[in-house]
Amino acid sequence: MKIALFSTKRYDRRFFDLFNQDQSHEITYFENRLDASTAGLTSGFPVVCAFVNDRVDREVLQILAGNGVKLVAMRCAGYNNVDLPAAKELGIDVVRVPAYSPYAVAEHTVALILTLNRKTHKAYNRVREGNFALDRLEGFDLFGKTVGVVGTGQIGAIFAKIMIGFGCNVVAFDPFPNKELEKAGVTFLPKQELLSQSDIVSLHCPLTPETYHFIDDIAIKRFLKPGAMLINTSRGALLDSKAVIDGLKKKRIGYLGIDVYEQEADFFFEDLSEEIIDDDLLARLLSFPNVLVTSHQGFFTEEALTEIARTSLDNVTHFGKGAFIAKNKLT
Ligand code: NAI
Repeated sequence: MKIALFSTKRYDRRFFDLFNQDQSHEITYFENRLDASTAGLTSGFPVVCAFVNDRVDREVLQILAGNGVKLVAMRCAGYNNVDLPAAKELGIDVVRVPAYSPYAVAEHTVALILTLNRKTHKAYNRVREGNFALDRLEGFDLFGKTVGVVGTGQIGAIFAKIMIGFGCNVVAFDPFPNKELEKAGVTFLPKQELLSQSDIVSLHCPLTPETYHFIDDIAIKRFLKPGAMLINTSRGALLDSKAVIDGLKKKRIGYLGIDVYEQEADFFFEDLSEEIIDDDLLARLLSFPNVLVTSHQGFFTEEALTEIARTSLDNVTHFGKGAFIAKNKLT
């Protein structure tokens, strides 16, 4: 089938070309992000393949429907950027890749924690300049610390098990507690108790109206344990960035590690090293010594890219045969 693939990077092309050898779809790669200004490019394509920061809202879907698009194949798990009711109304099916490598994101979460704690990013720079002093590189033992996991689905559960392996006391919050984790010794707590008990809080829930600004001013001022480490590898808008900056300034938040940012679509995945960062909140976050920002790279492993390309192309093939893979279908 003819596929218009948006937000293409070199690595997308490499993996999609490889797995398309067996499938023979006709893929056109657009580097542009999908939004209202680029949606016109979809004319003549029954299938659009989009990613996390593409805009698949009602306005865009209306243009896609007018161009005869029948399927939006999201090559990611999260779909907070897709207006599913609008897609349904307009007769556009939406599929996704529900799991490509939960290990990739869980392991990146651990990388953020270890880096923030043991400051390996600073040590790397120091020793390269001949500075072998240890001042200000002090960290803390993870062993015995309490780690709060918000959302114990695929990624959260793997992350919880890794932290159990470190000898941490793992507590969790999820409207649907994970029985396997309970058996492994994880205690499920209400949100406020999790925040007040945890030395490290890590977010692994989807972005929904209920989880929007899950960590806000009240959560930081009234419940978060002072000096706690806050980690977000899920979706930027789970954190209220302004409240987080205030929490960092007042030292309520001891460390912040984020792989996602509320307004990331304008910056992440691009080389803007010669540009002015036109976002005062992001610029402020980058200025703290105890903040580590990565640009949505949690998923970025060979295994995950393989699974993303393979499942996305399988989804399109099944759509072509009129036989969806039920677990991948959103509308
Ligand atoms: P999942 O669907 O397996 O698990 C999500 C869990 O969150 C479920 O157990 C659900 O019950 C829980 N949940 C729902 N509402 C909640 C609430 N209000 N409070 C607490 N928990 C709640 O999803 P998965 O695969 O574990 O992914 C989690 C998130 O990770 C995704 O939604 C996505 O935003 C993010 N992600 C980030 C990536 C990255 O590269 N940084 C890559 C892939 C996913």
